[in-house]
Amino acid sequence: MDPAKKRLLTGDRPTGKLHLGHYVGSLKNRVALQDEYDSFVMIADVQALTDNFDNPEKVRDNVLEVAMDNLAVGLDPNKATLFIQSQIPEIAELTVFFSNLVTVPELQRNPTVKEEIKSKGHIFKDGIVTFGFLGYPVSQAADIMFCRSHVVPVGEDQKPMIELTRKIAKKFNDYYGEVFPMPEAIISPVSRLKGLDGRKMSKSFGNAIYLSDSPEDVQTKIMKAKTDTDAKVLYDVENKPDVSNLMTYYQIATGESYEAIEEKFAAITSYKVFKEELTKAINTMLLPIREKRHEYEKNTDLVVDILKAGEKKAKQEAEKTMELVRSRMKINYFQ
Ligand code: TRP
Repeated sequence: MDPAKKRLLTGDRPTGKLHLGHYVGSLKNRVALQDEYDSFVMIADVQALTDNFDNPEKVRDNVLEVAMDNLAVGLDPNKATLFIQSQIPEIAELTVFFSNLVTVPELQRNPTVKEEIKSKGHIFKDGIVTFGFLGYPVSQAADIMFCRSHVVPVGEDQKPMIELTRKIAKKFNDYYGEVFPMPEAIISPVSRLKGLDGRKMSKSFGNAIYLSDSPEDVQTKIMKAKTDTDAKVLYDVENKPDVSNLMTYYQIATGESYEAIEEKFAAITSYKVFKEELTKAINTMLLPIREKRHEYEKNTDLVVDILKAGEKKAKQEAEKTMELVRSRMKINYFQ
């Protein structure tokens, strides 16, 4: 590990396989940054349990899937440390200390948490939320700070979490002396890719293309995607939101500009042609990812080894940080 390198931490909740929205919103970014930063990538199972405490099997089953998604898109285990959050109990310990540095209204104001509580009525009836879910941003601050990360590549929706982490880190440093850096968010250029029906991309809406989808899955999904009635490929978010959304998919898959895409499909008389080309483009982009994923699927022992090696490295950093934290907080009694 190069000590001159700044440190990076990011992560995903293992609640499902990762989709194209994750890819453009954060996975691509973390892969691009893995040479420049000493990178830690966490599979946030403890956080996933804050709104899936009634379904631990789901979280468990998706840990390996999310690990394979990360490896398939090019996260290199020789460069980046891939690990499972729950295996580093120091993070839970740090969460307890951090929880003294955040007020309840501060958590209640968090726009991302607010939105989530609203959309999770099945588990938080009438907006009545658990202590654990309301407090997950504190735990996320501990995720970021246990290894004293400088940067956090995330999607737009995670901005409030990084803001809170900075507040907590500053308070900690003010009370107990300098321990933590002020982390910066690195927001991906394409932060929010909408689902194929124009709604937020989500497993529950069935509107996502997964990194592990087969070419046939991709075809079926694209052919069913929402469009409009005038058979014109024009980028006009206001008047043609669905076609514009599909153009964004095409742009992501090919790197072509919206103008170039408009020109290419200027002569079409039905969206079918555009959709067929879009299917091809997405499948071309996903092909190497799919192949790499298949290799790991055939050899999950290798994935387990990568996670174990990652755990070891994460643990070392956690121990270093916590030794310092405990000493600054005067709870290092017998040393
Ligand atoms: N909250 C993030 C999400 O829902 C996942 C996450 C957990 C995370 N811990 C993190 C992201 C630490 C960045 C840093 O996608």
